[in-house]
Amino acid sequence: MPKAVRVHSLGGPEVLTWEDVESRAPGAGEIRIRTTAVGVNFIDVYFRMGLYKQALPFTAGKEAAGVVEEVGEGVAEFKPGDRVASANLPGAYATELTAPAAQFVKVPDGISDEVAAAIMLKGMTARYLLRRTFRVEAGQTILFHAASGGVGSIATQWAAHLGATVIGTVGTEEKAARARANGCAHTILYRTENFVERVAEITNGAKCDVVYDSVGAQTWRGSLDCLKPLGMLVLFGNSSGPVKDFDPALLAQKGSLFLTRPTLFSYTATRETLDETAKDLFDVVLSGAVKIEVGARFALKDVADAHRALEARETSGSTILIP
Ligand SMILES: NC(=O)c1ccc[n+]([C@@H]2O[C@H](COP(=O)([O-])OP(=O)(O)OC[C@H]3O[C@@H](n4cnc5c(N)ncnc54)[C@H](OP(=O)(O)O)[C@@H]3O)[C@@H](O)[C@H]2O)c1
Repeated sequence: MPKAVRVHSLGGPEVLTWEDVESRAPGAGEIRIRTTAVGVNFIDVYFRMGLYKQALPFTAGKEAAGVVEEVGEGVAEFKPGDRVASANLPGAYATELTAPAAQFVKVPDGISDEVAAAIMLKGMTARYLLRRTFRVEAGQTILFHAASGGVGSIATQWAAHLGATVIGTVGTEEKAARARANGCAHTILYRTENFVERVAEITNGAKCDVVYDSVGAQTWRGSLDCLKPLGMLVLFGNSSGPVKDFDPALLAQKGSLFLTRPTLFSYTATRETLDETAKDLFDVVLSGAVKIEVGARFALKDVADAHRALEARETSGSTILIP
């Protein structure tokens, strides 16, 4: 019988419950897969705690790789045996699942299932942030918060590969070393150093073209002060809590800044944008320009420990779960 991690009430990692679930045959437009590796993402924490809303009870998780076992009526793009992955699943923390074929892409040879589970959500996020939300070009200076995290480890390598000077904030010296190995020209220990002052120093007062901020509540005000006039703050997460009470006049005062609050799901909403985003990601990984670090592996049934580690800021790179 398949197993899944179910959430019956909102709360801490202890609400993640390992249970037997029914197998469901795919309906029209759906496929059923056996998962082989599952990704852990901060968004899973937001749903578990109720910051993002989902009707209870639900199966947690959004990102997984696996093998197609059965296809529903009208599905022409996949067949049993195909290796597939997705970043937008209704319950990825499961040994098998049935979901719309439209949410999956084929995983190319050369990308293992573990790597696929480590990059689908985080890597496609890095791709849209750097290539679509703000198009990073050689010669620009960017600030990336939580540079050694899951998204950060991929995005900082990619931005350095594009020729940008990357400044990364990190929680510890060990994470700083990893961030530098990933192409950050400068690292800032933002738990002890004033990152606004350090960015001004590093850039000789010129500041940054773009700031990518997923930390949110604790950093967003400082992030605005790290931007050149007409620069862009890309606020894409809430690891320290959501931003509240934002006054748009701040953007005028600080130099006609741009602010956007994007989400991957808008940037991959169509088959065309999903395929294009995934292809660019697979290509940059297969080329060796972006190396994927699986920072930690847990058994799927021990996912609560993975959430504890993520929330305690103990992880670097991607964390995956093995069914
Ligand atoms: N909008 C989108 O499309 C999108 C898509 C994917 C991810 N995201 C967001 O991107 C961020 C990174 O996601 P991820 O899954 O790759 O996680 P992650 O970066 O591996 O983990 C979060 C990191 O944030 C830092 N952090 C700072 N303050 C924190 C706090 N109070 N509590 C916990 N962590 C804190 C920690 O790094 P340090 O120890 O170095 O500070 C921590 O390791 C999340 O905010 C996520 O929601 C957004």
